[in-house]
Amino acid sequence: MAMQASTTRRGLLAGGAAAAVAGAALGTARRSAAQRGGGEAVRIGLILPMTGPFASTGRQVEAAVRAYLGANGETFGGRRVELLVRDDTGVAPDITRRLAQELVVRERVRFLAGFGLTPLALAAAPIATEAKVPMVVMAAATSIIVQRSPYILRTSFTLPQATVPIADWAARNGIRNCATLVSDYAPGLDAERAFKERFTAAGGRVPLELRAPLRNPDFAPFLQRVHDAKPEALFIFVPSGEGAAAMKQFAERGLREAGIRLIGTGDLTDDDILNDMGEPAIGVVTSHHYSAAHDSAENRAFLAAYRRVAPDVRPNFMAVGGWDGMHLIAEGLKRAGGGASGDQLLAAMKGLSWTSPRGPITIDANTRDIVQDIYIRRVERRDGQLWNIEFDRIAQVRDPGT
Ligand code: DHB
Repeated sequence: MAMQASTTRRGLLAGGAAAAVAGAALGTARRSAAQRGGGEAVRIGLILPMTGPFASTGRQVEAAVRAYLGANGETFGGRRVELLVRDDTGVAPDITRRLAQELVVRERVRFLAGFGLTPLALAAAPIATEAKVPMVVMAAATSIIVQRSPYILRTSFTLPQATVPIADWAARNGIRNCATLVSDYAPGLDAERAFKERFTAAGGRVPLELRAPLRNPDFAPFLQRVHDAKPEALFIFVPSGEGAAAMKQFAERGLREAGIRLIGTGDLTDDDILNDMGEPAIGVVTSHHYSAAHDSAENRAFLAAYRRVAPDVRPNFMAVGGWDGMHLIAEGLKRAGGGASGDQLLAAMKGLSWTSPRGPITIDANTRDIVQDIYIRRVERRDGQLWNIEFDRIAQVRDPGT
């Protein structure tokens, strides 16, 4: 059934029936827009994991996109924007692909956005290319994503971009051997490779490289092996939401008492769940592009806008990717005009620079990938809460692969 539906729609995208369906949808949109007195609304298809193991990513990104609209209005380039949020459950690329197709063909979205995990972004890429619809990757972070479609732009980060600075930091701070533990899928492999290359080039040694399954991981046996190998440090990458389990096992297996230092990318000390990690997280050093504790006027404005939408959630790095992704779309509409084609919008978005809540960022005109500052942070308790406190900054880091 699902298979049949998706085959039909694939045909629709190219076929004449598509025009009829699209025409009808367009007619409805035009009429309702005319009733409101503005131009036709610009539809944005926001595909996110709203349920399932990675639902925190969906919740963070959606809240941030809504916060952006709450703070900046909903009209850009003379057109009101309309969000169409779709739940892809986070674990099924075929669902993401089908949703992208439906949004493009039936709903005539002018932008695809969201994409919580790498396999999901990769699955939607061919749809963006075929439909010539700009696709804003707000969360997924494997290097190769932007190469999968000329219509992809990214406002999140890449794992190598975040990893190289912590490998350098470790080498500079007297760590001579460091094991790695990553989630066994594309971003984990990106992190593993980037860490090893950089750390060994600086004279370090990686005695153990471990990969834990992405779904339902049990970190205990891996951490036991690290305990037995007794490296000076352990580097961890796990996707947003999984850091608490890894941290708990690190503590329970006695790695800290054994004198093994814990480092990682900031996915590990995710602001969304950092407070729940408690004592074991204190002192952990990570590198990342965003901390909710970042001290700037732009971040304070972001936190205030976010609080109005999700008062009980601390925004994390996924949220800032959503906020900046919505900003990129808004600027594209302002510059190219609300009625512009996908190619015109894409051209207007490439090369833009602005001050994000995370700091200064650029969407590189050639790679369509983000260039941003990466911070070295340490988890500290301040006023009874845990925060990633930034203490060093590496300016304007590109994905090292590009
Ligand atoms: C990806 C997902 C995450 O939750 C994260 O923290 C980093 C990368 C990804 O699948 O690309």
